[in-house]
Amino acid sequence: MRIEKNGVVVVGLQYGDEGKGKILDFLLGSGDACVRFQGGPNAGHTIRNGDDKHVLHSLPTGILKKNVDNYIGAGCVLDPDGLENEIVNLKAKDAYKGKLFISPKAHIIKQEHREQDATSELSKEIGTTKRGIGPAYADKVRRVGLRAGDIELKLSADVKYGDVVDTFGFKHYDTIYYEGAQGTMLDVDHGTYPYVTSSNTIAGAACTGAGVPPTHINKVIGVMKAYTTRVGSGPFPTELFNSDGEHLGRVGNEYGSTTGRKRRCGWLDLKALENAVRINGVTALAVTKLDVLTMPKIYAAVNYQSYGTPVFVEFPGVKQDITNMRDETQLPDEVKAYLDFISDYLDVPIYYVSVGPDTEQTIPCWRNF
Ligand code: IMP
Ligand code: MG
Repeated sequence: MRIEKNGVVVVGLQYGDEGKGKILDFLLGSGDACVRFQGGPNAGHTIRNGDDKHVLHSLPTGILKKNVDNYIGAGCVLDPDGLENEIVNLKAKDAYKGKLFISPKAHIIKQEHREQDATSELSKEIGTTKRGIGPAYADKVRRVGLRAGDIELKLSADVKYGDVVDTFGFKHYDTIYYEGAQGTMLDVDHGTYPYVTSSNTIAGAACTGAGVPPTHINKVIGVMKAYTTRVGSGPFPTELFNSDGEHLGRVGNEYGSTTGRKRRCGWLDLKALENAVRINGVTALAVTKLDVLTMPKIYAAVNYQSYGTPVFVEFPGVKQDITNMRDETQLPDEVKAYLDFISDYLDVPIYYVSVGPDTEQTIPCWRNF
């Protein structure tokens, strides 16, 4: 069987929080599907449309849209109470618009998983989100896990649940978007182990986590911030501890949307991104938060010396407010130069540029800078 439709993976190229939810909100249209393939309520996708702001944890981004079908795939871990809370909150704001399907193969996060994650020394060392993610995945791999199909989920939404949820059904959609959570550098195999999350976050995981063949995926959109942030512990060679780092955190409002923790901030790391582009097979880039770079000079790491010291290239910072720009031709020269450099270095075209948190503040770039 071949699925002839568009299969597009939207994946984070750094340590999560790149703006995947926002880019998906921009891309998703009527007749599309939105599929979460890994992770659980450790994720926090913030979507803003004017005065409407929603933070999604377990629910796929397309739940905010009419005529979009949303799937929580087999590769996810699910907290039934947390999911119910999200549904109730969205319904109270009249923001629950799409349809939800849950794979019976998704694993359930139990209270004991959360307790373990909140108290273990290892979780503290890693700086996990304490949502029980690691212990739930551990039980899955040990083959003692509880799956969604083993229990009766009581949810305040009309949720399709059971073998209706299979890849064959995906044939009916225009485009099927696979929504990544976390980022490449947090992948349990390819990230900065052991300072990683407990699932595979890279584009290839869309196949195992949703149950679709690799031949079905024909586009991979890599979402990257114009600088770097990281929540929790672990290596971060371009991290800043000075006023520039403070600027990125303050102007970029860099606080975790799941735990409220302050995100660590630093310059762009193109060497790490080069690896991420290769691992994910990125076909197009979305570069977010360019509006935050309003400082005299900015830097990007292009290499490492021995002992892991980054080698930086200097660029002029963004000299004006770009948050109201909606067309690539309006972007100032210093922004274009920075984007050109990124695109050339990574050898991937930039298709989307984000200049603010609102979905409307997204600029499609139909030429390759
Ligand atoms: P866990 O996924 O809760 O086990 O946390 C493992 C590591 O991944 C910690 O450093 C977390 O801060 C980080 N992490 C997990 N989910 C996200 C996310 O959605 N965005 C950013 N960091 C995350
Ligand atoms: Mg996030």
